[in-house]
Amino acid sequence: DMGGHDTYMHKEISEQPDAVDRVLRGRIDDRFNTVHLGGLNLDAREARGIRRVKILGCGTSYHAGLIGAGLIESLARIPADAEPASEFRYRNPVVDPDTLYIAVSQSGETYDVLAAVQELKRKGARVLGVVNVVGSAIAREADGGTYVHAGPEVCVVSTKCFTNTVVAFALLALHLGRIRDLSVAEGKRIIEGLRKLPAQISEILESEDEIKKLAEQYADAKSMMFIGRVRGYPVALEASLKLKEISYIHAEAYPASELKHGPLALIEPALPTVAIVPDDELLEKNRAALEEIKARSGRILAVAHREQEKADHTIVVPKNEDELDPILMGIPLQLLAYHTALALGRDIDKPRNLAKSVTVE
Ligand code: M6R
Repeated sequence: DMGGHDTYMHKEISEQPDAVDRVLRGRIDDRFNTVHLGGLNLDAREARGIRRVKILGCGTSYHAGLIGAGLIESLARIPADAEPASEFRYRNPVVDPDTLYIAVSQSGETYDVLAAVQELKRKGARVLGVVNVVGSAIAREADGGTYVHAGPEVCVVSTKCFTNTVVAFALLALHLGRIRDLSVAEGKRIIEGLRKLPAQISEILESEDEIKKLAEQYADAKSMMFIGRVRGYPVALEASLKLKEISYIHAEAYPASELKHGPLALIEPALPTVAIVPDDELLEKNRAALEEIKARSGRILAVAHREQEKADHTIVVPKNEDELDPILMGIPLQLLAYHTALALGRDIDKPRNLAKSVTVE
């Protein structure tokens, strides 16, 4: 049942304010300015002993894990990174007892992720799951974890589950942070930011008509570049994957700082760039990248907190706390991919060559 929407993807994009509300519900503790995550199976003493966090997932879940790693580093000050689960499993990784491993999966059935979890457990590691489907294989195999409560996701491409997974990581990062060195005031700041998300997502969804018009203008591109910096880079990666999957337009994502190390050679009017430009400590750096592109006559579509002079178009999104901005900046780009694919007449819910869950190697 698509509930009045033409596609499941559109329905699922629209459900995000409610979905985010659901992942937050019942978990915030205003007394201690922290969060409770029931099924983690990780007590405070164990949480303090974690020396590193390694996040594993595939595709969109890997991208959510990249943002999650950034959240854990900044809020809990634990070194964290994310890696595609398949790469991890084939490179005979050093498995360390003081590292917390986190497997991320919407379906909970992705074979590469499941196999990585099994290999880790065989080597005695502690593995948590950040999973959407309750009772799925990865959820059962993990030592504990948290469900992301996005609700059923039918479209082959992931949207609401991506957003909810990132919010779940923000909760986990806040939880670990408040056990370690994150202050009460900082905890409160993040909680207030989290509570604003559902209404801010609704606000972004209201600009759908404007985004649709932009998509129609860019739909003739043969290829698109997506750039972002630090927190914005995984947003660029995910937006570029979304565009590829459903529109079949070639897209690349690069850290903005890497442009001058090669990809700048590609920039010309026929290759538009989508730039993630948050109002944070990196704003001036990001603006410099826009200038570099403009100097080569590249078209620029910016996602920013205010109009960007150097950009041909800016999609303005509401500001949240710096750490939580990536959650909001990804939303208009889901709609951009959606309307680009629609303009090109693609089969949005069932893109060619793809399956909802990849349960084979
Ligand atoms: O169910 P999972 O989250 O484990 O799936 C992982 C990827 O296969 C999945 O995210 C894929 O990249 C989607 N088609 C993204 O839209």
